[in-house]
Amino acid sequence: MTIYFNGSFMPLEQAKVPVLDRGFIFGDGVYEVIPVYSRHAFRMREHLTRLQHSMDGIQLPNPHSMDAWVAILTELIARNAPEDQYLYLHITRGVAPRDHAFPKPPVAPTVFAMSNPLVHPPAALLHSGVACITATDNRWLRCDIKSIALLPNVLLRQSAVAAGCAEAILIRDDAFLTEGAASNIFVVKDGVLLAPPKDNLMLPGITYDVLLELAAANGIPHQVRRILKAELFAADELLLTSSTREVLAVTTLDGKTVGDGKPGAMFARLHELYQTFKREVMRK
Ligand code: PDD
Repeated sequence: MTIYFNGSFMPLEQAKVPVLDRGFIFGDGVYEVIPVYSRHAFRMREHLTRLQHSMDGIQLPNPHSMDAWVAILTELIARNAPEDQYLYLHITRGVAPRDHAFPKPPVAPTVFAMSNPLVHPPAALLHSGVACITATDNRWLRCDIKSIALLPNVLLRQSAVAAGCAEAILIRDDAFLTEGAASNIFVVKDGVLLAPPKDNLMLPGITYDVLLELAAANGIPHQVRRILKAELFAADELLLTSSTREVLAVTTLDGKTVGDGKPGAMFARLHELYQTFKREVMRK
């Protein structure tokens, strides 16, 4: 596997990060995950725009322009074998003596990008849907930043896995839905696709945006608004989206069936539209 590390391409084994890197010490950095289908990065510029938002959010100057990032990632894709990949980008505030405040003067950021094979959700999961649990959203108030400090998300996802489930669906203030531990969540009620608003309490998902665009372009009724906890439990369907899982139906929540317990009509429609959209993007 060839990776990009601080200006050079090299085998993964060659890249070494000093222990005083602020990513290692403080989790002081941001990241992105970009899917690649048939060697075409999906929504690369949108992902890089979100990266800029995350960097602005932690006051870390972006070491590369949009065009420079595109060139680096294009080369990274070319240097790795799989047709379908997912790119992982990671930038930290660099290596400095341990002190919470930013290094003064600033030091060079640590920049890392790798490609992994993209494993598609197995067909069986598309047919059965996935089981999820609900959990209290105990994260900070800047969930719009794609921070590498993921301990709450790690613990939340692990609690789902320990319960034999695919994801933890998060409820803030015992009142409303935010997102999943590493995904966005949609509710379907009476034929309407409901999505939580993109605010400081959730990551503005790139797949989330695509789903809402597809709904708008295809006359599917949809609303973006706060979704109450009670609405989550009364849903006809629940959908989960992320760059690596695309669109999945959630058919069990906290051990109870969602709707009739099978992936529903909204899932079928949006999943189909998403696959068609992907194929169109790849042809360009
Ligand atoms: N995570 N919300 C959170 C907290 C996430 O970590 C992710 C994605 C999403 C979905 O965003 P997108 O559609 O842009 O992938 C929502 C990635 C896949 C990860 O951390 O591996």
